[in-house]
Amino acid sequence: MAAEHDDYCLKEYSHTFLPDVLKDQVAFITGGGSGIGMRIAEILMRHGCDTVICSRKGKRLEEAAVRLREATGRRCVPVVVDVRQSKQVKEAVTSALNQFGKIDILINGAAGNFLSPASSLSPNGFRTVMEIDAIGAYTVSKTVYDLWMKEHGGNIVNISATLYYTGTVLQVHAGAAKAAIDAVTRHLAVEWGPDNIRVNSLAPGPIEGTEGFRKLGGRSPYVKSMVETIPMKRFGTRTEIAEAVVYLCSPSASYITGSILVVDGGQWMVSGRSLSEMMSRASKL
Ligand code: HXC
Ligand code: NAP
Repeated sequence: MAAEHDDYCLKEYSHTFLPDVLKDQVAFITGGGSGIGMRIAEILMRHGCDTVICSRKGKRLEEAAVRLREATGRRCVPVVVDVRQSKQVKEAVTSALNQFGKIDILINGAAGNFLSPASSLSPNGFRTVMEIDAIGAYTVSKTVYDLWMKEHGGNIVNISATLYYTGTVLQVHAGAAKAAIDAVTRHLAVEWGPDNIRVNSLAPGPIEGTEGFRKLGGRSPYVKSMVETIPMKRFGTRTEIAEAVVYLCSPSASYITGSILVVDGGQWMVSGRSLSEMMSRASKL
């Protein structure tokens, strides 16, 4: 039985990509102690990476690191950091470099979210999500660039979302933050391409067994009708997101930069078409 929020490692894993495709690379993963970020850590480790997983909650990070090491046999170091604090970010990146000697891959997965109509969302509520998601992703990227990637190249994957493509209700803060992240992806891809750094976004759809899914109504009675909005007629899995990350970081994606890879079963193209239905459903979550 899965633990709360399903932060376990896979009991079995069958490789699609070569198991050594990322052998001995080092990945620095914000939000790597839970949900999608933890599964990204696991799957990268199953492809040969060592990882640094970071977020604010030390105990959860420590426990996740133990599970990740046991499941994969690779090294995993937990580091407590609030991505809104640039001094902490610098210390965390420096610590990662001291322990592993390099950072090949950066995954910006840290995020915060809640449902709120714009009419009752305070400026500080909006700012908080912008600071974690968008400014946090920039701060960590810039720090890793300054301290390592500028001289050595690397791969950055920013975890984004499709919310802003259709103006999803109750999500002006998260949509704005993810739009900013996608813009950062494109700007940095252009500026840092000459430094042999690829920068891409990965935009998941609704991924079951995650905090983000729960916050958006994943445990409500409406979950059945939510799945009907997805052309592939099911929610996504954390492993599907993590394997898309492996692809973006692999040599198969060596000419891909500034892209936004949507992994959502086709949902965004058909969601958000009925305003009255969306508002009615949201008011009952
Ligand atoms: C309205 C809210 C609110 C709510 C917080 N705020 N929750 N406003 N409705 N439900 C407001 C507060 O009133 C406050 O504004 C401001 O936000 C900051 O709140 P704090 O609690 O002080 O912030 P903090 O402790 O830093 O916590 C950040 C957090 C929290 C985002 C609010 O939920 C968190 O830590 N989340 C991390 C985990 C998480 O959310 N994971 C899901 C990621 S999924 P005032 O004005 O009162 O000071 C995801 C999915 C995206 O991102 C896309 C899916 C498709
Ligand atoms: P999650 O487990 O809550 O992941 C968010 C992570 O960010 C947590 O590990 C959290 O850990 C960390 N975090 C939050 N604030 C932070 C801060 N200030 N500094 C450092 N770390 C911080 O939720 P998830 O659903 O798996 O989401 C993972 C990513 O996927 C997010 O970027 C999210 O926007 C994106 N996404 C998710 C879905 C979905 O359906 N789940 C859909 C689209 C996009 P701490 O609390 O310990 O700090």
